[in-house]
Amino acid sequence: MSNLAEPESQESFSKQHYPNSRIKQVWAIGGGKGGVGKSLISANMAISLARTGAKVCAVDLDLGCANLHTCLGTEIPQTTLSDFFSRREPDINKVLIETEIPNLSLISGAQDAIGVANLKHTQKSKLLEKLHELDVDYLVLDLGAGTAYNTLDFFLSADVGVLALIPEPTSIENTYRFIKSAYYRKLKLCQSLFEIRPMLDMAMDQKNPLEIRSPADLLREVTRYSPDLGVRLREEIQKFRPKLLINQVRTQADIDIGFSIKSVCKKYFGVNMEYIGYLDYDSAVWQSVRRRRPLILEFPTSKLVGNFERMVHHILQEDKNQKSQLVY
Ligand SMILES: Nc1ncnc2c1ncn2[C@@H]1O[C@H](COP(=O)(O)OP(=O)(O)OP(=O)(O)O)[C@@H](O)[C@H]1O
Ligand SMILES: [Mg+2]
Repeated sequence: MSNLAEPESQESFSKQHYPNSRIKQVWAIGGGKGGVGKSLISANMAISLARTGAKVCAVDLDLGCANLHTCLGTEIPQTTLSDFFSRREPDINKVLIETEIPNLSLISGAQDAIGVANLKHTQKSKLLEKLHELDVDYLVLDLGAGTAYNTLDFFLSADVGVLALIPEPTSIENTYRFIKSAYYRKLKLCQSLFEIRPMLDMAMDQKNPLEIRSPADLLREVTRYSPDLGVRLREEIQKFRPKLLINQVRTQADIDIGFSIKSVCKKYFGVNMEYIGYLDYDSAVWQSVRRRRPLILEFPTSKLVGNFERMVHHILQEDKNQKSQLVY
């Protein structure tokens, strides 16, 4: 059970904080920019996951601009997270609705003025606590665009963070911004690195006096200050492994963007991003959205559906491999 009065920390948002939770994994789909396909990806990943037989709840955390229900082919539910946050409906199970897809439920996002930026720490913790009490195996969080702290915190709270982008300069630029912001936010929320918080704040300012211009510089300065903290910092950096997904691909050059971002992140941040795949630009997407039907149900034989299923199986397999490594 979480203590709502405790300060914000990475640990207080993570699954380990909810020992009674039956949830196997939380997946979050984020992206630096609007309209890159986060809701489409969340919906179809949630459906693919539910088709493996797991119980899944898709949660629309794009507060204020919720539209995950449309990608899942449901009407706007009567009760949404607006009711939960305003305490009109404190029981999260009553905010949850079943979809027409077996094993898949939906918690719809707020439709009104409660924007992500306005969500208080206590509301965020309360929501995570209640989500972890749900009787499901997986949560799939559809996040709003951008790098507001609440969005970053939900992204970082997940076991699997998928970063979606499209092959356009603005989206690529925002992806780097998202990675950088999530990276520093993660380190700042880490209790074992509490001592270097002032240095992290300083590192965010490009003109800082310690001349920390990159995460590599930060690691150097922290190690110089305390070799022990340097080791801890390196460990935390290694745990940060967002997955990259390029959507609306048209050419091989578009596909290759994933590999360049991965190598830039390794070089500049020391972060091992995983490029989990790409999705073609396909008219089946807008046709299914227009018909308010999930892509997977409307075009079950399309290449995109195959791609979603491959990615979902890959993520599940990776989790199994990690668990078996822990056993031996
Ligand atoms: N692979 C694709 N091929 C064709 N159109 C696509 C593809 N992916 C997404 N779209 C279209 O792009 C638009 C945006 O998709 P979506 O709403 O999923 O993005 P989003 O990132 O959730 O946006 P927002 O930030 O506004 O929540 C939709 O109209 C969708 O039909
Ligand atoms: Mg969306």
